Amino acid sequence: MPNTALITGASSGIGTGFARYHASQGGDVILTARREDTLNALKTELEAKYGITAHVFAMDLGAPGGADALYDAVKAAGLPVDILINNAGFGAIDRFMESDLATQQGIIDLNVKALVTLTHRFGQDMVAQGSGKILNVGSTAGFMPGPRQAIYFASKAFVNSFSQAVSHELRHTGVSCTVLAPGYVETEFAKVADMEGTALATNGATPEAVAKHGYDAMMQGKLLTINDPKLRFMLNWITPLLPRRTVLKMVSKMQAK
Ligand SMILES: NC(=O)c1ccc[n+]([C@@H]2O[C@H](COP(=O)([O-])OP(=O)(O)OC[C@H]3O[C@@H](n4cnc5c(N)ncnc54)[C@H](OP(=O)(O)O)[C@@H]3O)[C@@H](O)[C@H]2O)c1
Repeated sequence: MPNTALITGASSGIGTGFARYHASQGGDVILTARREDTLNALKTELEAKYGITAHVFAMDLGAPGGADALYDAVKAAGLPVDILINNAGFGAIDRFMESDLATQQGIIDLNVKALVTLTHRFGQDMVAQGSGKILNVGSTAGFMPGPRQAIYFASKAFVNSFSQAVSHELRHTGVSCTVLAPGYVETEFAKVADMEGTALATNGATPEAVAKHGYDAMMQGKLLTINDPKLRFMLNWITPLLPRRTVLKMVSKMQAK
């Protein structure tokens, strides 16, 4: 069975977790992120441990044309993509009006634009061949507005919404689209977003557990999955009933230093 997975953001955190888990099932991997050395070290580790083949494409997916360049490079190398895991993403804590606009736009470029481009381009190939799986990494942050991280939360609301709509459109094509919405995970994310020390960045899940949860849900063709059962209950049954201003206050407070 063809079983090659392209994983974005594979140099760290949940992305490395996806790569290790997929390789442990005997699947080949296409690893991409900006840090080439880290990707090469992961390639060496996975090939030695699992006897699979790993391919490395060090690229900046947030750069203009970055996602298209990745697609073109993978096609030029003649590699099949049976599974696409759109995992690369970042956030940045700051009040929007005081924030660096280029950084905020960079979040949209990576979390939204690159994910849309890769879903469209590899997704079209999957539909043409009548099989394939797409896993998009959204977030529980996508379930509510996020004062102090307005753009990041909105980017994940986009991913959550977009992925479910595409999943519906893909019914009967042989291609599935699943969205994983994790709660807080102990990765480099909090450092990159300058969230360390906030209430939101505590008691995180491990990236390995979250990757396994999302990967298994993708294999089952699930629509949307939240890894943490308490958060799942809260977001589905409590948060929607709370006054909007209360939710906004809570989220802002949880991200204060
Ligand atoms: N950690 C959490 O609490 C949490 C919760 C919910 C959702 N998520 C989502 O989970 C996903 C993975 O995050 P993580 O927690 O594993 O964070 P992480 O450890 O910071 O990993 C982020 C990955 O994205 C890559 N990346 C960042 N900018 C990139 C760019 N311009 N081009 C290509 N690759 C880029 C990074 O690699 P390079 O630096 O080498 O490029 C890294 O491999 C993200 O979409 C995040 O929003 C995280």
